[in-house]
Amino acid sequence: MQAFNIHIGGRTTSVVIGKSLLDRLEVYSRRKLIFLVDENVYAFHRKWFEGKDCIIVPPGEKQKTMTFAEEVLRKMVKLEADRTSFLVAVGGGLVTDLAGFVASVYMRGIGFGFISSTLLGQVDASIGGKNGVNLDGYKNMIGLFSQPDFVWCDLELLGSLDQQELVSGFAEVIKYGAIKDLALFEFLENNYEDVLKRNFGVLEKVVTASAAIKTGIVERDATEQGERRLLNYGHTLGHAIEKLTGMMHGKAVAIGMALAARISSKMGFLAPSDTFRIEQLIARAGLPVKTDLNMEDIYNTLLKDKKRSGDQIHFILIRGIGDAFVHQMDLETLRELLYDLY
Ligand SMILES: NC(=O)c1ccc[n+]([C@@H]2O[C@H](COP(=O)([O-])OP(=O)(O)OC[C@H]3O[C@@H](n4cnc5c(N)ncnc54)[C@H](O)[C@@H]3O)[C@@H](O)[C@H]2O)c1
Ligand SMILES: [Zn+2]
Repeated sequence: MQAFNIHIGGRTTSVVIGKSLLDRLEVYSRRKLIFLVDENVYAFHRKWFEGKDCIIVPPGEKQKTMTFAEEVLRKMVKLEADRTSFLVAVGGGLVTDLAGFVASVYMRGIGFGFISSTLLGQVDASIGGKNGVNLDGYKNMIGLFSQPDFVWCDLELLGSLDQQELVSGFAEVIKYGAIKDLALFEFLENNYEDVLKRNFGVLEKVVTASAAIKTGIVERDATEQGERRLLNYGHTLGHAIEKLTGMMHGKAVAIGMALAARISSKMGFLAPSDTFRIEQLIARAGLPVKTDLNMEDIYNTLLKDKKRSGDQIHFILIRGIGDAFVHQMDLETLRELLYDLY
């Protein structure tokens, strides 16, 4: 078991990575607990939820709406939740994003904690205090910053996760190595098969290292003014690819990371041998490095990206493995670089 704390805005969140973490809830037994549980997690681990007050969240982004949040809030009223009640989210990023939001607005805010059940959730979505729901197809349009009491990354829960979901989460892990941590990147190069086989010791190390990197970044830049931008590595192009193809987030980000590495090399920042290493690790993780999409379509889609300011873009480049930086680039330059890639 591994543990550390997150300190943001005068609040402390305890992070624990290990096995059988659901049993740790004993500590909270004197409070009224309400569980917001992913439907698949509930189905696979039903026994554990017996006799508990559970609100089930069906899978799929279409649940991440104000309408569904309202439904959850209504169920909380029905369950007689009061200001001292505590909401426990058990699920991936969808459920923890939703839980953080409803807990923060129910009676102007009740305590909440996350038991994260996907690799992406454990290394990314559960950390940083961003929560919310989508609006009319715009992702995460409504929400707030609000920190949970705890984030528990239960590696046993990952046992029932679909392999493609695991692979998709792997992309974010590779991202942390590429932007901040050469040692993690090298560890992944040597142990990627054990990640894919869900070897407990390897997962514990990888989740702990990744969650700690995200924690460090969000602690230093809680409101996304500077360093937090590095987390967008692979995401500017990835989001456009995700939007155009509907492919899984991690897969689109993997292509985005490979393209951003190529752009870094083209601009003379990154040795071609390092671009090769990044592409090789992405491919070994079972993720794509290329797309058949037309670069013009990718460019036109990213133009609509909400992070764009004027005719410049904050694009994340790599100087070496473990060393990313924010590069303010003319959109026109990015367009030329993209058209020039293949
Ligand atoms: N708050 C943040 O900083 C942040 C960061 C990244 C992503 N997100 C959000 O996270 C969401 C995506 O999260 P995700 O990738 O974890 O996907 P998800 O929560 O949608 O879960 C993916 C699938 O896995 C299933 N599942 C979850 N845990 C399981 C388990 N242990 N066993 C079996 N099946 C399981 C779910 O039912 C679902 O079908 C998006 O809504 C995204 O906006 C938030
Ligand atoms: Zn991502």
